Amino acid sequence: MSKTLRIAALAGDGIGPEVMREAIKVLRVAEKKFALSLQITAAAVGWAGIDEAGKALPDATLELCKKSDAILFGSVGLPDRDPTIPKEERPERAALLRLRKEFSLFANLRPVRLSRALAHACPLQADRQGDGIDILVVRELTGGMYFGQPKKTEDLGDGKRRAIDTMVYTTPEIERIAHVGFRAARSRRKRLTSIDKANVLENGILWREVVTQVGKEYPDVALEHMFVDNGAMQLMLRPTQFDVMLCENMFGDILSDEAAALAGSLGMLPSASLGTTSGELTFGVYEPAGGTAPDIAGKNLANPLAQILSAAMMLEFSFGEQKAATAIHDAVARVIDDGLRTGDIYSATDPKAKKVGTQEMGTAVAAAISG
Ligand code: IPM
Ligand code: MG
Repeated sequence: MSKTLRIAALAGDGIGPEVMREAIKVLRVAEKKFALSLQITAAAVGWAGIDEAGKALPDATLELCKKSDAILFGSVGLPDRDPTIPKEERPERAALLRLRKEFSLFANLRPVRLSRALAHACPLQADRQGDGIDILVVRELTGGMYFGQPKKTEDLGDGKRRAIDTMVYTTPEIERIAHVGFRAARSRRKRLTSIDKANVLENGILWREVVTQVGKEYPDVALEHMFVDNGAMQLMLRPTQFDVMLCENMFGDILSDEAAALAGSLGMLPSASLGTTSGELTFGVYEPAGGTAPDIAGKNLANPLAQILSAAMMLEFSFGEQKAATAIHDAVARVIDDGLRTGDIYSATDPKAKKVGTQEMGTAVAAAISG
């Protein structure tokens, strides 16, 4: 038996708990097959945290995270309940952004892949899909407008108010995320598109200069710069031109959702948020990029694949368990090939497609690993 890997499982709100259950089901099967030792401990976060302990990130949950090797995160936020508490206490800021900052998770990796079998779920015509879409969005996660100060809404009198968000980046912040992007490109198709708004923003000019400088250390990677508005358009027109897209925080937030739509559904998009590596383990938060989807929560309708693929990324990036991670990826590919579809990726015109619920999908992936 290998070293015990401690995982904090924070399911959160909406569809979080039901997709988390399926991811844990799959992890348990992988654990057995690959002789891992996983200690998975659940804790409350988001509205579940507020209901249980009065805080979106309860102290006990934060303590558990600090004692863990990685965090498997579901999703947080229920917009209907937002008006009941101050904005600073809402789960998105008080739990998710707090965790990113607390653990300095500056590198967010969002792999977008459109498999052949899901070509119909992509909103683009077949001729624009080329030989398949395979993009890695590398998003800076602890800087930019999300965290820059001042950040406030001021009263100007006469019933007028002014809202201020500040976009700030320092050269070291840009350098470290650029290195993550270039290293990722090196392990892929060796193309990096750096996204900025250098025609308008000071931040964009600095971003472009620093990325160009870092790029000199990676002469084998083809670097291209693109304005974010053009990048959004190019994703629709010719997504196959992209390998790695390197983005600051907010541009990456927006473009990764757009790119996810190309992969058929936000329910297919996993993510890893990583800090620096200390010793042999890299601490990270692994979460589906989609939200809580309150409209379908608790109905066994949600697609658990993004959560399951996030668990696979955790095995790979935090624990170096490449074989187990690959087995989960292969199992997901197999159930898709077999025609299993949750509602978000179902097409009535596909004769192979079988509509299944959240639990059946998770069980099928688990079975494909052990089988
Ligand atoms: C994401 C989400 C979050 C973000 C929200 C929920 C705060 O959209 O992870 O992409 O904007 O970063
Ligand atoms: Mg987002």
